[in-house]
Amino acid sequence: MENRKEDEHVHMTTKVEDSPWYVRDIASILQPQTREMLQSYAGISPDDLVSHIEAARQRAWPLAPYPSVGALTWLNPYLLLHPAHDRVLSKVKSGAKIIDCACMVAPDLRYLASKGAPTKNMYGFDIEPGFFDIGFDFYGDRTRWAGDFFEADATKPFEQSKLGELKGQLDIIWCPKFLHLFDREHQIELAARLVELLRPVAGSMFVGSQNGLPESEELPFKNGSFGTTQKGIWMANADEIKAMWGEVAERTKTKWDVEARLLDLRTIGLHKDDGTFYKTKTGYNLQWTATLLEA
Ligand SMILES: C[S@@+](CC[C@H](N)C(=O)[O-])C[C@H]1O[C@@H](n2cnc3c(N)ncnc32)[C@H](O)[C@@H]1O
Repeated sequence: MENRKEDEHVHMTTKVEDSPWYVRDIASILQPQTREMLQSYAGISPDDLVSHIEAARQRAWPLAPYPSVGALTWLNPYLLLHPAHDRVLSKVKSGAKIIDCACMVAPDLRYLASKGAPTKNMYGFDIEPGFFDIGFDFYGDRTRWAGDFFEADATKPFEQSKLGELKGQLDIIWCPKFLHLFDREHQIELAARLVELLRPVAGSMFVGSQNGLPESEELPFKNGSFGTTQKGIWMANADEIKAMWGEVAERTKTKWDVEARLLDLRTIGLHKDDGTFYKTKTGYNLQWTATLLEA
């Protein structure tokens, strides 16, 4: 019975009124740095911020009613919370090439751009290309953006999309809230394939940020759309993700230095646990930085 209940909660729904994760108080989610970025980078006036965000969510929701779309977890750049933030910002500002995996509206690339990083070295892909237009309108940077957003299903051979052309070309893989759509085996498989995009030199980085759980658990998941046919999604913890990188290293015949931590979002005021299944399970941000030592 408990499992059935969980299954129902994880199942995605397009009906707003059925969604336990659809945040109504937008202003309470909007963090000061995002507010500042939307004003200075996107040119949105303070009075229009909430309606601007709601309009973007209303366009995004029918495309992909992910819990994160309704919960607005795409609004505040998660890179700001990440221990690799300073390294990523400084490398990208100095010309490193970065790809945002399953970027949706690419909040983190926009954050880097707002800090002066050149957008020509930025790539983003998503299985749902409709997000790119929403992102351009949301951040008002269509005519300034020199980077490349392209449609790709990462579960398919890379040669079927522009991913094939990027093999061995990138310095940083930024992978936010994507691998957690898959079960453990598929997370390892996908991570190992994405590694092929990195330049095979010491210092290349694979930076991850996704939902995790202290106890590490496979949650049932019955929606088979968006390119996944997963029956479960794996919510790992820091030790498990390090173990996963051990397997990625073996499969790709590479060596990595891996740092990982599980950040309880409640401790930094970014998450209120109202006792619902979704809120209880998604209050942790699992972050890791895998730095290539030897290829
Ligand atoms: C939970 S959202 C995260 C969005 C964004 N990365 C963020 O941090 O807010 C998951 C994203 O994965 C994309 N996606 C799902 N399956 C995919 C696949 N097989 N290949 C590429 N993108 C995929 C969805 O369209 C969606 O934008």
